[in-house]
Order: sequence, then structure tokens, then C-alpha cells
Amino acid sequence: MQIITDIAALRETVAHWRRHGERIGFVPTMGNLHGGHLALVDEARHRSDRVVVSIFVNPTQFGPGEDFQNYPRTRAADGEALQRHDTDVLFAPGVEAVYPDGPTLRTRVEVPELTDILCGASRPGHFTGVATVVTKLLNLVQPDLAVFGLKDYQQLLVIRRLVEDLSLPVEIVGGAIAREADGLAMSSRNAYLEPAERARAPALYRMLCDLAARLEAGGEDFQRLLAEGRERIREAGMTPDYLEIRRAADLAPAGPGDHELVIPVAAYLGRARLIDNVRVTRPHSGQGGGDEYAGE
Ligand code: PAF
Repeated sequence: MQIITDIAALRETVAHWRRHGERIGFVPTMGNLHGGHLALVDEARHRSDRVVVSIFVNPTQFGPGEDFQNYPRTRAADGEALQRHDTDVLFAPGVEAVYPDGPTLRTRVEVPELTDILCGASRPGHFTGVATVVTKLLNLVQPDLAVFGLKDYQQLLVIRRLVEDLSLPVEIVGGAIAREADGLAMSSRNAYLEPAERARAPALYRMLCDLAARLEAGGEDFQRLLAEGRERIREAGMTPDYLEIRRAADLAPAGPGDHELVIPVAAYLGRARLIDNVRVTRPHSGQGGGDEYAGE
């Protein structure tokens, strides 16, 4: 595995592969890699001849008072894990390589509507930072495909939309959510949980699965289901940020007539802000309930 920090060297390596007709897969990350990231790398490996993984803790997607300074940076362990997962290039630029004039977003990529809701409402400016850096990384690597985790479902839709609207020549692949044995979605921020908090955290996914099952069984009183779900989050000692039932395609509020749904949730637990989601396919009327649960 080659470790590249310099943009010119990255371009040269990728151009060489391209001349040989190789298909390039890309996985952008902020490091502190866990099983979820490595599953995305495996997905890219499976679909490509060459795999580039970037590690860049992007300052422009952190708000004031968020954890940019303390975000876990574990480069040596990350490098070893990527090597084991057959990565060709680890691209790890410094802030000055990505933002030569400082991380002020002189030019920015905005994806309005999709980014004003859910995590975007709680973290103003976050998705502008994500959309801008992902656009830049895609321009640098110029991959044939890029893999993003379904755990950050809203982020995945934002990226799909910007790729479509800006006509970027890349296929965006959504990678399944990797979970711990007790159901907690893998996340770098799980490291912030104290042991007692970690023991309570799987309640979030259990609540999502129950809510999904009730929707699949034909539950139509969304507001009551959501109120019960929020109560369960509180009972587990967490503070709900949001819990919603949305259309899977565009995150617009869902009604009983919608069939492809997603239930996104965010909740605070100690120092961590946990996010998760499950997708639900509701039967068309007359089909009866009991369709196979369509979550990841
Ligand atoms: O999901 C992440 O880790 C980040 O938001 C990303 C896509 C690498 C952009 O910084």
C-alpha cells in the first residue's frame, strides 16, 4: 500500500492506473477506522481493480464547539487495517493541501432542502462542509465509484444529489450498516461512550426495529408511533435529537400512502451523538403485512 499526502503524486498514480484501463474505487473517511469502514473498503475492492481510501478529518464540517480538535486520530492502526484490506493507496493530505488558503470555504457546494433538515438542522453548515470536501476529493481521485455508508443516510442522499446535479462521472454506492453483536451501529464516536452508556446504547436500534415492524404491519398513526419511540429513547437514558418517519428517496415527511420509508434517529448519550436508521418497505394495500423487514 502506498501512502500519499501530496495531490500531484495522487494524480500521477491514478493517471497511471487509468492508462492501463483499471477501474478505480474510492472510500473517503475521516480515519479512526472500524469494521464499518473496512466493510466499505471491501465493497470497493470487490467492485474495482484499484482502491483508494482517504483519511482527512475535514475541519469545515465541524461546527463551533464540536469535536474537531479531539476527533480520534489513529493513523498507524488505520494504515495497518487498510493494508490488511488490500488497499492500494491511502491518501492522507494535510489541511493545507486540501485548503491552501485555510479552511474557510471560499468556494462551497450547497445542496439546499436536503441539508436543512434532520442532522442539517442540528448541525448548521455541516453538510456544506461535507458536500464541498467530497466534491473536492472526487475531483482529486476521479474514481469510477465511491462507497459511502448507509449509516449516514442523509449524507449519502446529499452526495447522490450533488453528483447528479453537477454531472460528476462517478457511481455512488451505499454500503450496508455494520453493527456490533448487540445491534449498535459502528461509529468512531462510540469511543466516547462510558461503559454504562455503552450498555444502554443498543436500545436505539431495538426501538428502530420495533418501529419498523409496526410500520410494516400497517401502523398508520405515525405521530403516536414516533412519540412512543422518543419516549423509549428517554427511558434508555438518552436525549432524542430527532426521530422521524421519512420517504427513503428524498427524506420528505412520509404519509401512510408512502411505501419506501426510512426511520432516521439521532440521540445524545453522554459525550456522544449517536445516529442510526432503518429502511422499511410497506406493503401496498391488499398485499397484507408481514413483508420481510427491509433494513440492512
Ligand atoms: O462520513 C465521513 O466520514 C465524512 O463525512 C466524509 C464523507 C469522509 C467527508 O469528510
